[in-house]
Amino acid sequence: MNVGIESISFYSSHYYIDLKTLAERRNLPPEKFYQGIGQEKMAVPPPDEDIVTMAANAGFNALKNIDKGKIDTVLFATESGIDQSKAAGIYVHSLLELPQNCRVVELKQACYSGTGGLQMAFAYVHTYPQRKVLVFTADVARYGLCSAGEPTQGAGAAAMVISAEPKILALDAESGFYTQDVMDFWRPNYRDEALVDGKYSVRVYLKALAESWTDYRQKSGKAFAEFEKFAYHLPFTRMGEKAHLHLAKTVGVQNLTDDQLLAQIRETLIYNRITGNSYAASLYIGLISLLENCPRDLGGKNLGLFSYGSGCVGEFFSGVIQKGYREFLLKEEHKTMLESRTELTCDEYEYFYTFPLPSDGSDFELPRNKTGRFRLAALKDHKRIYERVP
Ligand code: HMG
Repeated sequence: MNVGIESISFYSSHYYIDLKTLAERRNLPPEKFYQGIGQEKMAVPPPDEDIVTMAANAGFNALKNIDKGKIDTVLFATESGIDQSKAAGIYVHSLLELPQNCRVVELKQACYSGTGGLQMAFAYVHTYPQRKVLVFTADVARYGLCSAGEPTQGAGAAAMVISAEPKILALDAESGFYTQDVMDFWRPNYRDEALVDGKYSVRVYLKALAESWTDYRQKSGKAFAEFEKFAYHLPFTRMGEKAHLHLAKTVGVQNLTDDQLLAQIRETLIYNRITGNSYAASLYIGLISLLENCPRDLGGKNLGLFSYGSGCVGEFFSGVIQKGYREFLLKEEHKTMLESRTELTCDEYEYFYTFPLPSDGSDFELPRNKTGRFRLAALKDHKRIYERVP
């Protein structure tokens, strides 16, 4: 039995800042961002959008051709939690009118947790092939104004329906993992912005990749040459390039030039380059970017994926892109969303970034910005009030 992704969609906020604008304000050469880290634009959520509204928007599209009655499990992966107790997925479950006989859980391990959710869904559907699992990955990446991490912020959500009818990607059973207790990136409960040892985090990412691959190779017996394409966690697009060249070197690939190797990941970078890091969602936005932008039909080809979450956990896993997958992509919806975005000035970006949402529990109505179908309308009696946008 094949199990994997039946439907997949993503959402990123309506607003972005061009990194040229940010570079000018920070007195840096724009090439440092455009070429050095490979980022052109960065999504900036307005105050009335958060992980719930972004996930609901992604889920709305992902569920378009799905019988919602078959979904009995919702897994919500995030490191931008909006409550210490209640799972963000419960708000989304309600906004999307999912069946009440359903379980909803939130998962956390930095950018990795979505992959943990995907693998749990895979095992669950193997046991109950009639049922479907909805996996959300959603995050807002925040490092602090004027910090080295600032140009690697972003925001986005991906939603995937995992079932025994994997019209897009059938997952392979074997995957390779790696865990190590490191402090490369973390966010203590009292902070809104992550703390990061940037250069160290890049080294740990590469180590976790090599170790996860070795574990994967031993378990699966699959070789690097069997993969047509690869997709990586993308904190910034140059990281994906560094990662792929590092893996090729670790494996000892000799018959491909760097250009040929980079062609194996090129289309995965397109959406992330203009939305930025969306932490847990970033690998899956990269996957959508590959499937929607590769001019060749990839049906029947093997895909290798690497998921990384600081702290750290890495996982290399794989799947077979399904014949006819293009018919089930939501390319037009994604294109319209990305093309209708509004560019911010640096002052507007800083205003959104520092927007003074009350932190003492006072009631507050949020100003209405351009959002998707759902928005955070108010904070009232210590509760978050979400609404559908008419
Ligand atoms: P930095 O200090 O701004 O960068 O930090 P830099 O000075 O090393 O420059 C970056 C690159 O730009 C370098 O290229 C420079 O040479 C180049 P490289 O040597 O790496 O190939 N450069 C230029 N290129 C062209 N023209 C120029 C120019 N100037 C410089 N004029 C860093 C960069 C990524 C470390 C920083 O932005 C940061 O800390 N970001 C956040 C951490 C991060 O993204 N880490 C990635 C791995 S960890 C991960 O992926 C997990 C994560 O997603 C979190 C989670 O799991 O939840 C982050």
